[in-house]
Amino acid sequence: MFLKDLFSLAHFSVAAMQEVMERARYFKDRDRNQTFKSLQGKNVAISFWEPSTRTRLSFALAVQKLGGTVIDYQPEMGSEKKGESIEDTVKTMLSLGAAALIFRSSIPGLFYEIAPHVELSFISGGEGCYQHPTQALLDIFTLQQRGVTLQGANVVMVGDILHSRVARSHFYALPAFGASLTLVAPPVFLPDALVPPGASAGFSLEEALPAADILYLLRVQKERQGVNLLPSLNAYASLYGLDQKRLALLKKDALLLHPGPMNVGTEISYEALKYLERHNPERVLFQEQVANGVYTRMAVLDLLLAGR
Ligand code: CP
Repeated sequence: MFLKDLFSLAHFSVAAMQEVMERARYFKDRDRNQTFKSLQGKNVAISFWEPSTRTRLSFALAVQKLGGTVIDYQPEMGSEKKGESIEDTVKTMLSLGAAALIFRSSIPGLFYEIAPHVELSFISGGEGCYQHPTQALLDIFTLQQRGVTLQGANVVMVGDILHSRVARSHFYALPAFGASLTLVAPPVFLPDALVPPGASAGFSLEEALPAADILYLLRVQKERQGVNLLPSLNAYASLYGLDQKRLALLKKDALLLHPGPMNVGTEISYEALKYLERHNPERVLFQEQVANGVYTRMAVLDLLLAGR
């Protein structure tokens, strides 16, 4: 059921996603009083060519919790800086005994040609604007942990859809669990061609909010704007940021997700965030997403490297 590599959720069956959820639940339920050994004797290389806090650290923790050893390759300190090719970097990982390479890259497809020819599992921690499969899986796990029934739920996703690898993975994950997806963004972030079949799209957050069961805030990716697509971040915040007026349009039990890192003042106002944290902390799942990322990544590693 599980392939050698994880680049995308496009060919991930619903059954496979369900198995990730079950395995993540297994690890979470036993984490306090059990040690796991499924990666004992296995080395896993982690190499991020783009900045990351949550994904890199939670993958490293996941490897350690499964009894494996992390080979921490830091590209900015590596021999690529002396001209070594990416192919030779991969060969070096293999020679060091790596069973997998967990990577983040700004260039989608960096490993697609190499992957079929080497005995190394390539596991994406986010590729440019392509996909971020484990983020979508951990979001689903977080919602399931909260007892949310995704079948029939309306997820409103607002933000920089154009550059979002998280959104592109959710185009597969959320419908697989029966959720309907409503995309909201300024027109420049929401070209027609990007809207997947079955999803709705609109430019007004005010219109979308009252029907949202789950509001998924996406980061405005300042580093990928290239030319200035937005007049300013303030202009974005005034039309699409979650402020207290817009918060009042949501159902009283609507849940909020954000993959992080968050630009407070852009995707959500400081006042709205503080209001939620003080009055409705149970609706804000941001930190639960981070914590559940460890168990979801343990599940992915276990299924790809030990259970395949
Ligand atoms: N959600 C996410 O990918 O966060 P990091 O960039 O901190 O890994």
